[in-house]
Amino acid sequence: MSALIEAENVTRTYGVSRGAFRTPATVHAVAGASFSLEKGKTLAIVGESGCGKSTLARLITMIEPPSGGSLRIDGKEIATAGRSVLRDLRRTVQIVFQNPYGSLNPRQKIGTILEEPLVINTRLKAAERRARALDMLRRVGLRPEHYGRYPHMFSGGQRQRIAVARALMLQPKILVLDEPVSALDVSIQAQILNLLADLQDELGLTYVFISHDLSVVRFVADDVLVMYLGRPAEIAPVEAIFEAPQHPYTRALLSATPVADPDARREQIKLEGELPSPFNPPSGCPFHPRCPHARKVCVDVRPDLVDILIDERYRTPTRVTCHGIVEGWIEGAGRPVDALGHVSA
Ligand SMILES: Nc1ncnc2c1ncn2[C@@H]1O[C@H](COP(=O)(O)OP(=O)(O)OP(=O)(O)O)[C@@H](O)[C@H]1O
Ligand SMILES: [Mg+2]
Repeated sequence: MSALIEAENVTRTYGVSRGAFRTPATVHAVAGASFSLEKGKTLAIVGESGCGKSTLARLITMIEPPSGGSLRIDGKEIATAGRSVLRDLRRTVQIVFQNPYGSLNPRQKIGTILEEPLVINTRLKAAERRARALDMLRRVGLRPEHYGRYPHMFSGGQRQRIAVARALMLQPKILVLDEPVSALDVSIQAQILNLLADLQDELGLTYVFISHDLSVVRFVADDVLVMYLGRPAEIAPVEAIFEAPQHPYTRALLSATPVADPDARREQIKLEGELPSPFNPPSGCPFHPRCPHARKVCVDVRPDLVDILIDERYRTPTRVTCHGIVEGWIEGAGRPVDALGHVSA
């Protein structure tokens, strides 16, 4: 089965002007993201603020084009896709944002909000649009009488249900969820996460789930992409990320999070120092200034994404950008896999 999303070294830069002299500068918001995502699965994207998560979300949603690399969605390369292909693709991918207050027009009734995508993109008659909106309200756990109400009459959790309903009106294949529960109370978060899981099963949806909360990620993800300064630090099945994190940055993120399993023995790494500026990222491995294991090679050479075999029970190898893991001088490292799938001794 081919992947629904395939990203190969995707980049996105922004030209900006900085400081009192308005010096032109380039931000490398996404500096080489590679991953793939199969139908029906959830890829979680994690990493500190500013690491490029939302930028990646905008690229996948085709709100803006990548600056470079290859991004295939539903089998089509978006950089070279024609207008009509792009228009269809944009219906295939929908996004839900963190803030359910800002994303719903306060002057529109829920029915109007839900039907708007149908008005723009389909020739459905009013009665048919209404029927679809009512059906979607039911699917997201709301009631028919909510159809005629305004957004301010709903709680935060209900508004996020409405945002999910709106995103699903055009029957997309992929939902990009950018911190969808971060603004909600913890008790409400679980309800929305359960709703998303149910919808995924019922509708066969594929999710890109952005979150800085690792306990949420553990609950929702099949695979996890850990980003650092616009680059992938590690990509792995969720079990491998939590049981055998490879990249020192992943280990640091995890040791900053309470561990559910008290028996899990884990190297404690503190994240020290500031996150460097994306205007001039460090040489070599971008994590080297904060990494307790950094050696000279880490300062000099940008590490490639390499497949590492940890344990046969994980669905896929872990992919990691770390010299210490690949060369084996960081404790607990798996073994690199070569192009033929052979594991090095
Ligand atoms: N339109 C833009 N113009 C200039 N710089 C931008 C633009 N969008 C994002 N950036 C910069 O790109 C980097 C990545 O931003 P992005 O919003 O993708 O991060 P993020 O991981 O979503 O962060 P957060 O967790 O805070 O939401 C940041 O340094 C940001 O300032
Ligand atoms: Mg963001």
